[in-house]
Amino acid sequence: MPDPSFSKDIKERKIEHLKIPIKHDVQHSENYFKYVKLIHNPLPEMDFKDIDISTGFFSKKISAPICISAITGGHPVSKKINEILAKAAHEENIIMSVGSQRAGVEDEINVDSFRVVRDVAPKIPIIGNIGIGQVSSPDFSLEYFNKCIEMIDADVMAIHLNSLHELVQDNGDISYKDFQHNFKKIRNFTTIPIIGKEVGAGFNEGATRVLEKLGFDGYDVGGAGGTNFAAIEEKRNRVLKNKFSRNPAEVFREWGNPTPVSIINVRKITQKPIIATGGLKTGKDIAKSIVLGADIGGFAYNFLISAWKDYNEKTIMNTINEIQTLKNEIRSCMWLMNVGSINELKGNKDKRVILGKLYNWLNQ
Ligand SMILES: Cc1cc2nc3c(=O)[nH]c(=O)nc-3n(C[C@H](O)[C@H](O)[C@H](O)COP(=O)(O)O)c2cc1C
Repeated sequence: MPDPSFSKDIKERKIEHLKIPIKHDVQHSENYFKYVKLIHNPLPEMDFKDIDISTGFFSKKISAPICISAITGGHPVSKKINEILAKAAHEENIIMSVGSQRAGVEDEINVDSFRVVRDVAPKIPIIGNIGIGQVSSPDFSLEYFNKCIEMIDADVMAIHLNSLHELVQDNGDISYKDFQHNFKKIRNFTTIPIIGKEVGAGFNEGATRVLEKLGFDGYDVGGAGGTNFAAIEEKRNRVLKNKFSRNPAEVFREWGNPTPVSIINVRKITQKPIIATGGLKTGKDIAKSIVLGADIGGFAYNFLISAWKDYNEKTIMNTINEIQTLKNEIRSCMWLMNVGSINELKGNKDKRVILGKLYNWLNQ
């Protein structure tokens, strides 16, 4: 039986997480995408409209390398937001992720807020989501993981690795000793791809090697540069700030490996699919991510803002417009670089230069 007060706690936390980034500036202060420049070619030798931005994600074909990153679920407002995002993702044939499904597994009443995604988007790739804290728990079971998959008929499951966030929030899960042991149980019995995902502090090579050995099928680098969970907790933190002489959420506000660094770190270790999230703001950032070695660009903040507008205006047009804008921006980059397909762009060192702090970081 779920503990109703616990479930209420998760619900309240979910809605605070949703509203704080809308109302306050909780973005990382520095975004390293500015240190990546795409090389202009003054002679595009193709029609703008013939540029092919379609690509694949595991077994499915999508119209563009765009992912609506994990944002929400587990609250009536989340249900509406997920419905808006999924309808738009379906119409534009891109990838959609749900937020952590813990609230759905632990209390049946929340299942609808996740299931709505598959109901309105029967064909697109949908990524399910559960935290390392849940997978590491002594109570974790294969059944728990399968419930997440079945809830949304997930094509792919993401396990989010959010150690920084857990550390700076009240009652965070900060013991992952049993992670590898428990993960092996699910890996042996799960046929759909499983990806490892950070949420804004990024990846290093060492963690990628460990996850590769465990049999992960892909990565979402969730690097530093965009939405910042330490900053979100700084806004909502009620417990820790009274416990210590300094608020940990404030001290660790700028912690993390920038997204461009994380893409390069992960690509050094694996040829598996990489989603780049963390501070991507435009289609230019998708093109930069792909040129650095990623396959897909993911956005949480942009789509949170568009879906919130849609929620208030009872439409899905703001989100559709955001997706179409991103598509036009990727195609524009490719035309200006004289690149006809996503494959030609991917990891293409001749098409970019790396400057300033990013260059310094990578060359130490
Ligand atoms: C309101 C909100 C809730 C989020 N919830 C989750 C979550 O439940 N699981 C997860 O893996 N990531 C979650 N994220 C992280 C995003 O998926 C993404 O990795 C991160 O925000 C960086 O992308 P951005 O800079 O485009 O926002 C959330 C982000 C936001 C803004």
